Amino acid sequence: MSNKFSLGFSTLDKEISIEKLTITGRLPAWLSGTLIRNGPARFEVGDIKMRHWFDGFSMLHAFSFAQGQVSYVNKFLESQAYQYARDKGKIGYAEFATDPCRSIFQRFTQIFSPSFTDNANVNISKLADKYVALTELPLPIEFNPQTLETLGVIKYADALPGITTTAHPHYDFSKKESLNFLTNFSAQSTYNLYRLPDHSATRELVSSIPTDAPSYMHSFALTENYLVLVEYPFVVNLFSLLLSGQPFIENYQWQPERGARFLVVSRKDGKLVGNCKSEAFFAFHHINAFENENEITLDISAYPDASVIEKLYLDILRGETDKELPRLGELRRYHINLETSAVKYEVMSAEPIELPRINYQLANTKKYHFVYGVGSDKNNPNNFLDRLVKIDLQDKNVQIWHQNDCYPGEPVFIPSPNAIKEDEGVIMSVVLNVQKGNSFLLVLDASSFTELARAEVPHHIPFGFHGQFYQV
Ligand SMILES: [Fe+2]
Repeated sequence: MSNKFSLGFSTLDKEISIEKLTITGRLPAWLSGTLIRNGPARFEVGDIKMRHWFDGFSMLHAFSFAQGQVSYVNKFLESQAYQYARDKGKIGYAEFATDPCRSIFQRFTQIFSPSFTDNANVNISKLADKYVALTELPLPIEFNPQTLETLGVIKYADALPGITTTAHPHYDFSKKESLNFLTNFSAQSTYNLYRLPDHSATRELVSSIPTDAPSYMHSFALTENYLVLVEYPFVVNLFSLLLSGQPFIENYQWQPERGARFLVVSRKDGKLVGNCKSEAFFAFHHINAFENENEITLDISAYPDASVIEKLYLDILRGETDKELPRLGELRRYHINLETSAVKYEVMSAEPIELPRINYQLANTKKYHFVYGVGSDKNNPNNFLDRLVKIDLQDKNVQIWHQNDCYPGEPVFIPSPNAIKEDEGVIMSVVLNVQKGNSFLLVLDASSFTELARAEVPHHIPFGFHGQFYQV
């Protein structure tokens, strides 16, 4: 028993470098730069199987574009966790939902030690002038963007405290700084929000917000004047984390009676200007947020609860159990009134959406039209991410790309030079073709959402998470 798309959750061992991929169609002449993608590619070590999609060892993939051609290179990220597993044939570091076997005492010492995983398999960013792979522990691993060779964990020049972070930093193009936060587990736990100016390795604290129960937050929102954390009621029990012997994420509990808190922090002086409550919900991915007088509009891919995490265990995704596959998030627009603290939301589309992306440089923090993402046939519960969607948030129009037996990953928007319109550019997505047993890089015209070209890769690329496009 297995799902049709299980190939996307199977290990890819091969590391290759190809100068020219076979292209069908035609790439825009202006397209130049490199798409670097991150995601898990090894799901077992010896006889031990990783349990969760988020656990697999990171592999980087780079597609470089020049003169209408595409080159490709892929390499495992040589994190300490990966090297240990490769060299010793066993799991040595605690992953998101898979742990090495340890005694309670070893576990106690490991939580706050480097034996918590540095397997940075979630996203890519450029921090402190370095290209880095990111995970939810603050251990960014630098790599060479051309060869994908691992260069090592970058060291910050500060001592900002925090155990976990997000792999979704924001970037402010006008202030030329990245923004993110650390969650520090302590007798008084805090969310430590910080900025990291370009060319600097010193994180500057913007604000430290206390919390009585740290929440699992995968991303957050940025507006012109505020940082917004949505504290879902999926909260960690610190004693359990230290003593239960359960893998990291299994120490979080869904406590819907807490509701969700919208924590609105001023970027100027760090003051908490909003602490607004709504009914409970959960999300991985914020989409965008912007200000409108005394209101913040915040778009997010929302779930009724955090059970989606449990549905991303590999045995479920591969169809090895009779448990249901996860349903995708609902595109919600929250309105947060900073004067009254009232929070309400509207559903912006009937299309479910995940791995959302926007024209970040033009649209982030602004009122905007378009969100791109992966979607799914909502009438077929046995399906996975089988389409790309483009949703116009103003006229609610939906455009879809779909091909039978093909499973696309996160769509990345790349603007064309001198673009004026928000959707002037291309969309890139790595697509698994289960009929042919390989993946291809799909390039769509972002405006018409139709195919311009595809470049075939000789092997399957396991389903990944996030990628970025750079002028490398
Ligand atoms: Fe993510």
